[in-house]
Amino acid sequence: MIPRRFSEKQRALLSWWCPDSPYANHTAILCDGAVRSGKTLCMSLSFVLWAFSGFSEEDRFAFCGKTIASLRRNLLAPLRPLLLHYGFQWEEQLSRNRLLLSYGKDCREFYLFGGRDESSAGLIQGITLAGVLLDEAALMPRSFVEQALARCSSEQARFWFNCNPEHPYHWLYQEWICKAAEKNALRLHFELDDNPSLSEKVKARYRSLYSGAFYERFILGKWVRAEGLVYPFFSERHQFKALPAPCAEWVISCDYGTVNPTSMGLWGRCGDVWYRTEEYYFDSRREQASRTDEEHYAALEQLAGSLPIRAVVADPSAASFLETIRRKGRFPVIPAKNEVLDGIRRVSSALQEGRIRISSRCADSIREFGLYAWEENTALDRPKKEHDHAMDDIRYFVSTILDPQPEDFAAFSLLRETQPAGGSSAGTAERRSF
Ligand SMILES: Nc1ncnc2c1ncn2[C@@H]1O[C@H](COP(=O)(O)OP(=O)(O)O)[C@@H](O)[C@H]1O
Ligand SMILES: [Mg+2]
Repeated sequence: MIPRRFSEKQRALLSWWCPDSPYANHTAILCDGAVRSGKTLCMSLSFVLWAFSGFSEEDRFAFCGKTIASLRRNLLAPLRPLLLHYGFQWEEQLSRNRLLLSYGKDCREFYLFGGRDESSAGLIQGITLAGVLLDEAALMPRSFVEQALARCSSEQARFWFNCNPEHPYHWLYQEWICKAAEKNALRLHFELDDNPSLSEKVKARYRSLYSGAFYERFILGKWVRAEGLVYPFFSERHQFKALPAPCAEWVISCDYGTVNPTSMGLWGRCGDVWYRTEEYYFDSRREQASRTDEEHYAALEQLAGSLPIRAVVADPSAASFLETIRRKGRFPVIPAKNEVLDGIRRVSSALQEGRIRISSRCADSIREFGLYAWEENTALDRPKKEHDHAMDDIRYFVSTILDPQPEDFAAFSLLRETQPAGGSSAGTAERRSF
C-alpha cells in the first residue's frame, strides 16, 4: 500500500537528517515504542532517501534485522512497492544478500544482515559502511549491534535503530535510550496513533491482543518489567465444553520430564481454531512413582487413540523420549521451537484472539494458567520454573504449529511430508500453518 499521508512523528523520522531539520545535528536516531506504529516503514524509507541525498556509488549501507528472513518479510517487502512507486529501480541479489537501488543514474548498494544468523557476525566484520539501519535492534545480540556500528567509519555515517520495548534493564535501553543525549542520538517514541493508516477498529483489535507487561510494552511502548502472572487474563472465556464440529486435523504437543512432570496435549482443529481437547499430565512427585519412556509412550498412544495424528511436537531437549517416539514409527516428530518470551507472547495473542481454546476437562492446564508467574527481582524477563509444564507444551504447540515463522523450514517441510494423500482444506488463511 502506498501511504497517502504521514503523521507528524513519522514526518520527523522521514526528515530528521535534512539540512533544514531542527534535528539535523544528531548522528543517530532511535525509534522505540508501540508495534505497528510505522517505525520500520518510515525508517527504511528515510534511510534510503538519506543514502541518496549525499554519498557516492562507492558508499555501502546495511539493513540489519533479527534474521535475513525476517528482514525480507518485515522491511524489504513493504519498502519495495513504495520505492518503485517513487521511481526507484530495485535489484535484489538474493544469493549475495545485496540490494542495488538506483534512481535515474544514481545507484547505492545495501547489504542485508541478520543479527542472529550464524554467518552474519563474521561477514559484517569485513565491511566498511556509511550507514546502518537496525530493525528490531533489541532482538539482536549486543555483540552484533556493536560490530555493525563499528563498521561505520565515514565521518558522515549515521546509525538508525528501531525496536519495540523490552525489559528496562535491556542493554539497548540502558546504553542508548537512557544515554541518547550523551550519544547525540535523536529518540522518537512511537504510539499506535502515530500510524495514520490504522483504523480505530484495527487499533482496538491490537489493544485486545495484549495484556499485562506486553500491553504496556507493545501498545503503550513502555520499557517495563514483567510481573505477577504470565497469563493474568486467562478465564473461562478461553475454555470450552464441547467441540463445535468434528476436527479436520490433530496434533499432540509434549513437554517431557522425569523428575519434573510430563505434560502432553491433544489438539484438534475446527475451522481456524485449535482446541486442546484432552491432556496427559504425569507428576512423579504427586504420584510418588516414576514412569519410563515406554510408559510415557503408552500414555501418548492412549491420548492419540485411533486419531490420525499429523505430528507430535516435543521439547527439543527430550532426546531419549523423542528417540522412543521415532523408533515406534507411528508419529512424525517435530522438535519444538523453544524461544520462551517470544512463545509466551504468541500464546497470549492466540488465547486473546480465540485461535486456541482449552477444554474445561484439561484440569492441569487450567491450574497452571492460574499459577504460572514471572520470576521476581531478576534483571531479565524469566518465568518461574514451576507450574510450567502444560504451559511449555502449549507454548511449543503455538510456536511450532499454530504460528510457525516462515524460516522454520524444518517444521514446514515435515508437516508437508506428512500431509495425507489428497490434501486437506488447510493452508488458505495467511497464518495457517500447513
Ligand atoms: N503513513 C502510513 N500510511 C500507510 N500505511 C502505513 C503508514 N505507516 C505505516 N503503515 C503500515 O502500517 C503497518 C505497520 O508499520 P510498520 O512500519 O511495520 O510498524 P512497526 O515497525 O512500528 O511495527 C505496515 O503495514 C505499514 O506499511
Ligand atoms: Mg517494525
